[in-house]
Amino acid sequence: MFTKAYAKAHTNIALIKYWGKRDQERNLPAVGSISMTLADLWTETTVEFNPQLNTDRLLLNDLQDDQAEIRASQFLDLIRQHAKFSLHAQINSKNNFPTSAGLASSASGFAALALAATQAANIPMSSAELSALARQGSGSAPRSLFGGFVEMLKGERQDGQDSVAHQLYDEHHWPLNVVIAIVTKEAKPISSRAAMRLTTESSPYYSEWVRSSERDLEIARQAITNKDFSLLAEVAETSCLKMHAAAMTANPPCLYWNAITLNLIKETWDLRKKGIAAFFTIDAGPQVKIFCEPSATKCIQERISQIENIYRIQVTGIGPNPIIKKSV
Ligand code: PMV
Repeated sequence: MFTKAYAKAHTNIALIKYWGKRDQERNLPAVGSISMTLADLWTETTVEFNPQLNTDRLLLNDLQDDQAEIRASQFLDLIRQHAKFSLHAQINSKNNFPTSAGLASSASGFAALALAATQAANIPMSSAELSALARQGSGSAPRSLFGGFVEMLKGERQDGQDSVAHQLYDEHHWPLNVVIAIVTKEAKPISSRAAMRLTTESSPYYSEWVRSSERDLEIARQAITNKDFSLLAEVAETSCLKMHAAAMTANPPCLYWNAITLNLIKETWDLRKKGIAAFFTIDAGPQVKIFCEPSATKCIQERISQIENIYRIQVTGIGPNPIIKKSV
């Protein structure tokens, strides 16, 4: 019997970045990654399979969005193939933060959709199967299947079954904060998928990026286990800068930063020199996420709010596992 299901999944920000694919078609990452799930940014999704529908319908933040509907419908095709049925669904999905503003809405979006749709279709899935499913939507989505600190393994197998996410520590292990500086509302100039492909095909730094990632993951695991802020700061910034250096040196170059991004990098280094426990990371966009010890949050907020042209600042802590509910 088909039912209606609801899932709430939180976004995540990578401390050790995923950039590049070892298999385009299966969307398998060339490198592992480690992230922190965010407490206050999430997606809530309900899915209801309905015999009266002849196409999938999506409402994203209460609005119709043709592009997003196509992606969601292709994603549901994977579930229909797996479950061997042909029903279509009504999907209602809401982000409690700006969609497509470089805040990883695709991670929480596809994690919530994977959880709600498999519940609604009554298909029990192992955690590895859910990872594989979420990964087809977005490479960073499996990490949003867990709270706390999460590692996504690149895996070795061709079928990708060992490319799965798992929780390193839950949200009570080491409560860090993130100060997110949104510096533009504009959509990113190039999608991460397209930029990863260009980087893989043309950056002279790509092979070194892949080679050195194993060591970065090892150091980050150790830093998180020992709650060693300086070590995590160093390795997370290194991973972010290497990812962007590889992307920038693709042909044509993929440059996501703007002048405000650079000001925020300098400001974070300045704060750290003064003994404030803070480090930055940047994804495929100009927004800067400053991780910090909770006691440093206010000072960081005050300092960066003096930088011109920052459009919005949002603070959040470390977030929990998703919630899934079934309703008849
Ligand atoms: O999940 P995707 O395909 O949008 O890729 C995410 C890539 C980065 O956000 C830049 C890094 C990461 O690990 O989240």
